[in-house]
This record gives sequence, structure tokens and C-alpha cells, in this order.
Amino acid sequence: MSTYKIALLDGDGIGPEIMAEAVKILKLVEERNDVIFDLVHTPFGASAWFETGSSYPDESKKVTDEADAILKGPIGLSHEESKKIPVDEQPERGALLPMRRRYNTYANFRPVYLPKGLVHFSPLKPEVIGDGIDIMMIRELVGGLYFGNKETGINEDGRRYVNESLEYNEDQIKRIMKVAFKTAMKRKKVLHNIHKSNVLKSSVLWNEVMEEVHADFPEVEVVNILVDAAATYLCLNPDMFDTMVMENMFGDILSDQGGGILGSLGLMPSACVGDKKAYYEPSHGSAPDIAGKNIANPYSMIGSVAMMLDISFDMEEESKKVWNAMQSVFADGFSTPDLSKEGSGVTMISTSDFGSKVAEALSKI
Ligand code: IPM
Ligand code: MG
Repeated sequence: MSTYKIALLDGDGIGPEIMAEAVKILKLVEERNDVIFDLVHTPFGASAWFETGSSYPDESKKVTDEADAILKGPIGLSHEESKKIPVDEQPERGALLPMRRRYNTYANFRPVYLPKGLVHFSPLKPEVIGDGIDIMMIRELVGGLYFGNKETGINEDGRRYVNESLEYNEDQIKRIMKVAFKTAMKRKKVLHNIHKSNVLKSSVLWNEVMEEVHADFPEVEVVNILVDAAATYLCLNPDMFDTMVMENMFGDILSDQGGGILGSLGLMPSACVGDKKAYYEPSHGSAPDIAGKNIANPYSMIGSVAMMLDISFDMEEESKKVWNAMQSVFADGFSTPDLSKEGSGVTMISTSDFGSKVAEALSKI
């Protein structure tokens, strides 16, 4: 019997509601398997700042340090509410990026997945989607512009200026490339390398290192594509992509576009993996406008549990079953009001009912 300690960071907005559904699934997985999950809720995000004066309090750092894996809800508030918190303590800069840095979670997996039966969720035409969408976006998560040196001030001409650097060293690129090639080997053996080497020197180094790592994975076909072109092709022909790798900011932007072609960021779970620790989170924000209404879909949170089972606990089969259970609830004609429109032919259910239906489906698989 294995025991795993999981830190649960509910986060802000819809976070606690969708976390409750993820916990339902974790409890059921525990019942069905030879495993014990020790679940510890701990504050994180804007709510933590209002409660404790820190968006990633020391007490939470202790819990996440000791955890075998971390499940994190979305964080952040509306623009107006955020302004009540000092800039450096706002949860993105004060909690999320520090956690990524603390655990060096450099490999961010963002599956963009929509099975054939669910293509009606997508804003793309069925003939564009074909057999569904199945892309694994891999985003470098602890380097580049988001983590580079930042400087603001007044220049010699008395004008305000800002200077932010995009930094990578070859080791940082090498390790994410290894992850990307290994992932491509398990999938269709085609890797789309996203870059902007016609302008950025960082992309020139990125591509050089990619070629060096490619030598160890000769079976993988590499397709180099400029980031702007990739954005277009994601809409025009998503089927041409299978595994994609990109630096931090490109990945932030293209993965949101990934959610866009699925029809919602609510369909985007993710895994953020380092050599020693991994955490799992929806790729979307905390949707404060619909918080507390029991209408947010918990898919991305439960999908993050599925990724955790596979990556952190080696429970690949159970992970697949969780994915299948979620898809089956949609396939049976149920959805939540945030994802579907009235009159679209689906039966609208609440966040908690959606979670219960996933649990019910899982218990039958
Ligand atoms: C994401 C988010 C974060 C990021 C924000 C909240 C800092 O947009 O995970 O994609 O930019 O990485
Ligand atoms: Mg983002």
C-alpha cells in the first residue's frame, strides 16, 4: 500500500468549488486502489493574502515542501480587486511564479484534447477538426522573459523606461527538449519546434540545442515553425500538430489559444513537472465573475488529477479511466452553463453534479 501526501491549494474565485470535485475523484480513486491519499488543504493566492498577508505563506510552503504532489486551483482576482494587493504580492508574482521557481517545475504539459464526439464544443468547423483535436503542448516554465531580470526607472532623458530580459542557458533548453523528444516518442514521433529565430537570438540558441538533442532521438521528425505561423495553423489545421515544444511566453500564449480552439480554457488541465516535484493545475484563471454559482465546469481540475495519477503516482491505467469518465459525462449529453449555451441540446448541470457524474461513471469503469 502506498501513501501519498497531496497539498491542495484551493486558490481563488471558482477554485474551491472545482477543487471539491477533484477531491471527490481522489477519494474514489483511493477506495478503488491500493493507495492512501493524505490530503492537506493550505492557503495560496489572493485569498491567502487577505487571510494571512502573504499569497504564499510560510505555512503553505511547509505543506508543499513535504507533499509528494501538489494540486492547485486557479488564482487571481478581478483587475479592481487585485489592485488592493501590493504589486509584488499579487498572486501571480507573489505565489505562482515563486512556486514554479521553488520546485523548478520546468516542464509544463498542456494537453489540447477534444475527442470526435465533442467537436461541437469547438468554434472551428467540423471539417477543420476532422477526427478531433489531440495535441500535447510542452511549455518551458521557469525561464525566459517571465523569470529574467526586470528593471524599471527613469532614463537619461528623464523618460520612464522598462527593461526585461529573456534569458536561457543551454542546460535549460536541453532538459525541456529531452522531455519533448521523449513525449514525441510515446506519441506520433513528430515534434513541432516553435521558435522565432528570424528575430530572437534566444530562438537561435533554442534551435541549436534542439538539433543537438535531436541526434539522440533520430526516429522523431522535427518540424520547425515560427510562433506566429503556428498560431495561424492552430486555427486552420490543428490536425497537423501532435507534440509541440516552446519557450515560456510562447507557451503561455499558444496554450490559451489551444483552449480557444477547444471552445474553452475550462477544458485545459495541466501538469508542471520538475525533477523532484510536480504540481498540477487548470490552465485557466479563477473566473471571479462566476465564482460561488456552482456553474463552473470542474473538467480542468479533475483532468489535472488524472495527470497527477499518471505522472506522480505511476497509475497510468487509472488516469486513463478518469479521462474516459469525464468524456463520458459530456458524451451522455451533460454540461455546465459556463461551457455550453442554453438551447445547445445538452442538459445543463451544476459543478457538483458534474463531479458526481464523473465519479459515478468512474465507478463503473
Ligand atoms: C498560465 C497563467 C500564468 C502564466 C499566470 C497566471 C502567471 O497565465 O499558467 O498560463 O502566465 O504562466
Ligand atoms: Mg496563461
